[in-house]
Amino acid sequence: MDFKYACKKCGKEYKADEIMYRCPECNRSERSGEMQKGNLRTLIDPDYLKGLAGRESVSPADFMPYPIPHISTYPVGNTPLIGPKRLREKSGCDDLWLKNDGMNPSGSFKDRASQVVASQALHFGVPTVTLASTGNAGSAMACAGAAYGLDIVLFVPHTAPENKLLQSVLYGAKVVPIEDTYDAAFSLSLEYTEKYGGINRNTGYNPMTIEGKKSISIELFNDLGRSIPDVMYVPVGDGVIYSGVFKGFYDLHVAGLIPKLPKLVAVQSTKSNAITTAWKSGDARTIEKATTRADSISVASPANGRMAVNYINDSDAWATEVSDEEISAAQLELAAEAGTFVEPAAAAAYAGFNADLAAGRVSRDQKIVVLLTGIGFKDMQAVTSAVSVPKAVKPNMQAVEEFLQS
Ligand SMILES: Cc1ncc(COP(=O)(O)O)c(C=O)c1O
Repeated sequence: MDFKYACKKCGKEYKADEIMYRCPECNRSERSGEMQKGNLRTLIDPDYLKGLAGRESVSPADFMPYPIPHISTYPVGNTPLIGPKRLREKSGCDDLWLKNDGMNPSGSFKDRASQVVASQALHFGVPTVTLASTGNAGSAMACAGAAYGLDIVLFVPHTAPENKLLQSVLYGAKVVPIEDTYDAAFSLSLEYTEKYGGINRNTGYNPMTIEGKKSISIELFNDLGRSIPDVMYVPVGDGVIYSGVFKGFYDLHVAGLIPKLPKLVAVQSTKSNAITTAWKSGDARTIEKATTRADSISVASPANGRMAVNYINDSDAWATEVSDEEISAAQLELAAEAGTFVEPAAAAAYAGFNADLAAGRVSRDQKIVVLLTGIGFKDMQAVTSAVSVPKAVKPNMQAVEEFLQS
């Protein structure tokens, strides 16, 4: 399929016959503390997209810039869309849906982007992919590397949840834990790619991460019987998942398959709120430090912040902040009342829905989708302050009864 790149800032267009990252002319921050400029958008030929409207069915693959090699042991996407009975009753929202992307091969939404970057590497015959990650993008890329036979070099903050790092090592990636933050790992991975070559998959830096993530929207369009939600909740760190969800609906709209875009609500923690703050103030600045316990959305300098802020406005939506306590409560609620165990970043989206419902920003008759981006098993440490395994009891009925009555 024909596509090109366009700079979000200066509008300049670039051919897509080579690997590109940011706009060479705008890739900078002019003031310290300012969000990075020059993110590229991928523009698919509108005539091609319009041609999809006449088809009886469409699939995410129809919208992808590169062919995705199918591997049966690596089934990315087609994740469950759940109508959570008890949560619907509790909230009074009969048309509430949970899209559980923790059911992807490596346990997170990030498999969608990693599969497309792997396809990009195969397309250009590049054997190595380098990236920085808060944990999930790394384990997802490592998983894709194992599936497609690519070498993965991964820079992560050493504080990333151990399970995410173990998973990446297990898949065969070269894992480089950095004694610093994700933002430092991000810079180092760019320096490494410049020196040693290969493709860089950094989220928000390689435009293919957004293209990969947009598959969710085409899937949802099919899941919902060729319709869209009224409102969708997306947890936000760098703003790339958010931009990917937007781009999927945007492409569907250009194709003429949907009449308008859904409202896409960006949810952040109050302790990592660069994008919400920029959306409210209109000033695209980074924050000094991100300290949320929801590690996957802990980002001080969002790699795709400007684009995400623009897309919040373009989808006529808003940004919601929730506290870490609300995130933990949402994590327990999803587990105990929907049987869905997600990591804190994913629970943030549900906490955002709860907060907006209480504040009257959404109404009970709307079709609402909450995007759950990662499975809970990746970060067991996150739940140990809320729940613990009881001490063992003696192997007799009296002890069992005393235990159960206590
Ligand atoms: C589980 C999960 N949810 C949400 C996010 C936030 O995505 P983004 O950084 O693109 O905003 C991430 C990113 O790592 C993630 O792993």
